[in-house]
Parts: sequence; structure tokens; C-alpha cells
Amino acid sequence: MTRTDIINSLIKKNNYTSYLEIGVQSGVNFKAIEAERKIGIDPDLFSKATNHCTSDEFFKKWKGLLHFDIIFIDGLHEYLQVWTDIINSLEMLNPNGVIVCHDMIPFDEMSQRVPRVTKRWTGDCWKAFLELKSKRDDLDMKVVDTDCGCGIIKFGEQKLVENPSYVYEEFEKNKKEWMNIITPQEFKDLYLC
Ligand SMILES: C[S@@+](CC[C@H](N)C(=O)[O-])C[C@H]1O[C@@H](n2cnc3c(N)ncnc32)[C@H](O)[C@@H]1O
Repeated sequence: MTRTDIINSLIKKNNYTSYLEIGVQSGVNFKAIEAERKIGIDPDLFSKATNHCTSDEFFKKWKGLLHFDIIFIDGLHEYLQVWTDIINSLEMLNPNGVIVCHDMIPFDEMSQRVPRVTKRWTGDCWKAFLELKSKRDDLDMKVVDTDCGCGIIKFGEQKLVENPSYVYEEFEKNKKEWMNIITPQEFKDLYLC
């Protein structure tokens, strides 16, 4: 199961029509998304984005004016930027909508370091997800253990993580519980039935 499968299955199941992707690059995922209205943003002028700008610029311009059923966050993979992208996305999300965040489970300590030191890199965006899991009991957050970890955020409720640690070794020991990691089969049972 890939990120694209997760997004397309959520669109189909919920009859979603509007989709926003933050960080499009060559469009591998964006082109394959089956939604009526798609907006993809990326500051790289060579990317396949529909809007060439940063996520901050996009939200500043369109907040309050645009709303989406599903938003995929896969732009700059750094803690503070992903935190900001999630908070801004929640404001543009329809009440029954969903946010999918890529790269929430690093391969190892090196692969999540900022600045980047490895070819295979998730960045430290897991910290933004974990912080939300410790602060927002009005959200329902899980991570599907596939394609580098696909975080799923909906409005709902959740038990908050108490005293999370942002030291990688502690995260590694506790990640299943803290991030609420589920299998692809559990994703199907919980979100697609
Ligand atoms: C991992 S790639 C995206 C891959 C794509 N989502 C996919 O699944 O095929 C990350 C992209 O985010 C873009 N990016 C970097 N900083 C950004 C920002 N501040 N806002 C939006 N996109 C950004 C980069 O230019 C890069 O193309």
C-alpha cells in the first residue's frame, strides 16, 4: 500500500472532490490522484505543481477562501515547517476531511537528521506529529506503517501522549504507542469499511 493508494482510497470511500498537495516535485503522486479539483503547490519552478509557491505563501493568500476535503503534506520535511503546514491545513480542511502526512516513520536516526545527511531521508517531521498528539485532544491521529509512515489526521478525539520525548532513541522505543502506528490492514478496517 502506497501513499497514493491511501489517498485515493480515502477519496473514493468518502466521495471527496477537492485535494491539495503540499510538495509535488515530479508529480508521481499528484498525477495519480483521482479527485475532481486538484491543487498542487511547490516553489520549485521545474515541479509539476499547479501553483509555484511555498506552503506559507499559499496559506497566507488563500486562508478563509479555499477549503479542501483532503490535504497531503509532503513539502519541506522539517519539524517547524510541517507543524505550520498541519496547523494551516486544519484551517482549510472541511469538517469531515482528512490530512495525510508523509514520512512520519524515519528509517533510523541518521535519516531524520536536519540538515540532511543521508540519501534516504524523512526529515524530523515526526516531531510535529508527536507534538500534536500531545496537545490536541480534538484530533484523531494515526500513522499507517507503510511508504515511510503515512500520518492520518481527522477531527475527532484522542488520548494525549504524556511527556513525549523528542530525542530520537526515546522515540524509537515508544513510537508504536506514541504515534499510534497501525498496519495497512488496520487502516482498511478503520477507514474504509
Ligand atoms: C518529497 S518531494 C514531494 C513528492 C511528492 N509529494 C510525491 O509524493 O510524489 C518534496 C517537495 O517539496 C517541495 N518543497 C520544499 N519546500 C517547500 C515548501 N516550503 N512548500 C511547498 N513545497 C515545498 C520541494 O521542492 C519538493 O519538490
